Amino acid sequence: MGKLKCITMDCLLIFTLLVTKIHHVHGDTNVTVTFLDTAISKGAVCLDGSAPAYSYVEGFGTGSHSWIVYLVGGGWCNHISDCRARSSSRLGSSHLMASQTTFSGILDFDCTSNPDFCNWHKVFIYYCDGSSFMSDIEHSHAKNLTFRGARIFNVMMDEMLAKGMRNAQNAILTGTSAGGLATILHCDKFRKLFSDEIRVKCISDSGFFIHGKGHHGYKSREQFFGDVIKTHVLIFQTFISWPSPCLQRAHQRGSRLTSLVLGGVTNCTNNLKSCSSTELGIMRDFRRTFIRTLERRIHSSPKRGLFVHSCYLHDHVLKSDEWTCLTVANRTMRQAVADWYFDRTSFREIDTKSDSPKNCTNSFCL
Ligand SMILES: *[C@@H]1O[C@H](CO)[C@@H](O)[C@H](O)[C@H]1NC(C)=O
Ligand SMILES: *[C@@H]1O[C@H](CO)[C@@H](O)[C@H](O)[C@H]1NC(C)=O
Ligand SMILES: *[C@@H]1O[C@H](CO)[C@@H](O)[C@H](O)[C@H]1NC(C)=O
Ligand SMILES: *[C@@H]1O[C@H](CO)[C@@H](O)[C@H](O)[C@H]1NC(C)=O
Ligand SMILES: *[C@@H]1O[C@H](CO)[C@@H](O)[C@H](O)[C@H]1NC(C)=O
Repeated sequence: MGKLKCITMDCLLIFTLLVTKIHHVHGDTNVTVTFLDTAISKGAVCLDGSAPAYSYVEGFGTGSHSWIVYLVGGGWCNHISDCRARSSSRLGSSHLMASQTTFSGILDFDCTSNPDFCNWHKVFIYYCDGSSFMSDIEHSHAKNLTFRGARIFNVMMDEMLAKGMRNAQNAILTGTSAGGLATILHCDKFRKLFSDEIRVKCISDSGFFIHGKGHHGYKSREQFFGDVIKTHVLIFQTFISWPSPCLQRAHQRGSRLTSLVLGGVTNCTNNLKSCSSTELGIMRDFRRTFIRTLERRIHSSPKRGLFVHSCYLHDHVLKSDEWTCLTVANRTMRQAVADWYFDRTSFREIDTKSDSPKNCTNSFCL
């Protein structure tokens, strides 16, 4: 059974010696997918029973002992029927995944736009379990469906350790959205893969979800995440330690997330201009509670960092424009993350200029 540390509700492999092909495309780079077929015998499989997958590029030069592991997001499935539908999509079956993925943002190979991490070993882990890599049901009651996200995480770590991650001097676990939540929930486990003197940190991008009890729409949030937990048979635990997540946005963007705040889908969820004053009020209110909850979580450890902006955006670290140009307190995201990661300076900043969601679509890299 999987274990889900309580944050959500308070709150929220050696085989494939394939040569990774790299295609340079306008600065961004596509990397081919590797299917971890050896994981099948270990029961570490996607919802449909297919092999889990990753894309990997070897580090070099000063980055040859540094590793960055990225967990991609894609929401969660909250009912068997929803998980069944997902099992016939790229989010539930590696048979349906694209044959390559773009490495950009924090995974970019360009040392001009990504000076601190460009030459690191980079791993992109695909998401196909629908539970933020948390589920582990031995015998599923649902026909043709397997819930093994936690095992996928474990076999992926074993694969990377065998590829050389066990000799890492620097390591980062990061992820976005459902992958950002997975980053928080797996951070302690990731830390334990390395000895104490190794610099290991976790960067959760848009992965901190709050309950917001009493706030507008909390019943639907409670219902949604409660159903995810029930469907994947996740167990709540008291949240004990949470080493340093760094990125966050103060507004829950994306129509599904916004609807969980507003209590339903409205025109406002996709177009800020059409939001009523009531809706804007609900979002401002939610933001305040969100920030208060975040600060309470962050407070107990001086090592934790925060990068909280007010843009109506979700997922950032693979988006080159946002990675290089989105700023909070005059520091770009990549500067803030690197300064914090390398302990050059701490970074705990919240944009307080705007308490309403801002449409920042055209304001990057001006
Ligand atoms: C790179 O990968 C992305 C994502 O799979 C795809 O949309 C794009 O077409 C690929 N580009 C090239 C040049 O193959
Ligand atoms: C399970 O898979 C089998 C073989 O593909 C198929 O015939 C059957 O309809 C599936 N059952 C469900 C409940 O999807
Ligand atoms: C949403 O937008 C559509 C099309 O612009 C409009 O017909 C509808 O009245 C709007 N709904 C609300 C609740 O504003
Ligand atoms: C933000 O502005 C752009 C350009 O004006 C528009 O296309 C987009 O729909 C807006 N996004 C939201 C969420 O309002
Ligand atoms: C950011 O830079 C501007 C212009 O250099 C300065 O006026 C402002 O005080 C700075 N803001 C912060 C939060 O450091």
